[in-house]
Amino acid sequence: MTEVLQDISLHVEDHEFIVLVGPSGCGKSTLLRIVAGLEPETSGAILFDGAAVNHLSPGQRNVAMVFQNYALYPHISVDANIGFGLRRAKLSRAEKQARVLDVARLLELEDLLDRRPAALSGGQRQRVAMGRAIIRNPAVFLFDEPLSNLDARLRMQMRREIRALHAKLPTTTLYVTHDQTEAMTMGDRVVVMNKGRIEQIGTPDEIYNRPRSRFVAEFIGMPGMNLLPMRVADGALHLGAHRFALPPGADCAAPEVLVGLRPEHLRLSDGPHGVPAVLDQVEPMGSETLLYLHHEGQKLCARLGPDCALRPGATAWLDLMLDRATLFDIPSGAALWHPIAPSGETT
Ligand SMILES: Nc1ncnc2c1ncn2[C@@H]1O[C@H](COP(=O)(O)OP(=O)(O)OP(=O)(O)O)[C@@H](O)[C@H]1O
Ligand SMILES: [Mg+2]
Repeated sequence: MTEVLQDISLHVEDHEFIVLVGPSGCGKSTLLRIVAGLEPETSGAILFDGAAVNHLSPGQRNVAMVFQNYALYPHISVDANIGFGLRRAKLSRAEKQARVLDVARLLELEDLLDRRPAALSGGQRQRVAMGRAIIRNPAVFLFDEPLSNLDARLRMQMRREIRALHAKLPTTTLYVTHDQTEAMTMGDRVVVMNKGRIEQIGTPDEIYNRPRSRFVAEFIGMPGMNLLPMRVADGALHLGAHRFALPPGADCAAPEVLVGLRPEHLRLSDGPHGVPAVLDQVEPMGSETLLYLHHEGQKLCARLGPDCALRPGATAWLDLMLDRATLFDIPSGAALWHPIAPSGETT
């Protein structure tokens, strides 16, 4: 048997909303399925409230899972779909109906209870799928890319609805997504996974501003961090003939480091000084402009304001905001130094 996950250690607080992100195939769904009891683990323990649940069946674990494809029953109405999870519950018909109505109100589905799933929009179907999960009052919600079948506008709306729902009904949640915006906006904490391992666990702010590894730096952010190899000598960083003071407090023993700069930390100089780079592509995004450039074969991306008159082929002079840089060890990819946080704390 192949081991898909290795050394996974994750402690989730009560009521916490955890987002799992990582490249395709890194083991996000496998982790959810192991927590749900749908997949056997080869070793290790899964504890709910301190008690091992390894031996419990999915039904006994009291978790509810919502998938990308909703998995609604097409031949029964919305209220029957929502009530389906209660079919074995020892409740009277009237009690079950009242529960269905409560959940339908919570999700604003009360006017759609008689419809079949085929007569619903994608977002409404997704809400029914959530209703079916909520009604069992689970201890844990597991979401596996629940919004990826929806268009961008609906995704944005549903992402806010799910957060609002979590505020009203703070069930402990593990939420898998490959959508960066969902990860940054929904999670109390984000877990970044890579090849079956956890690369970093942190708040969205920590993951974005203080990536622990080169992998996290490149994976998080749209686009990810620029990484420039620079020589370290005489207390300074050197990029070819360009010399930059080491950020205060950064003390590097390595002869060469990777300097990580977010696209928003490359600015255009106000004249022909700084680092010259040739502009390859301009992406006007409405509220901002992304510039894709290269300097001596090194690809770079800069995030600028909405108005940018530069055209491909032009030379742009860049001002690198080294005080915002994260420094990475080249052999291991581990972060060596982070910029001083507002609290004054470093790594
Ligand atoms: N039933 C299976 N048998 C063997 N290998 C599997 C099985 N299911 C998944 N895998 C492998 O396990 C790894 C992790 O798969 P998993 O579905 O957990 O990834 P994921 O992070 O959810 O990816 P995606 O973002 O594409 O959904 C992959 O390499 C996959 O090929
Ligand atoms: Mg998956």
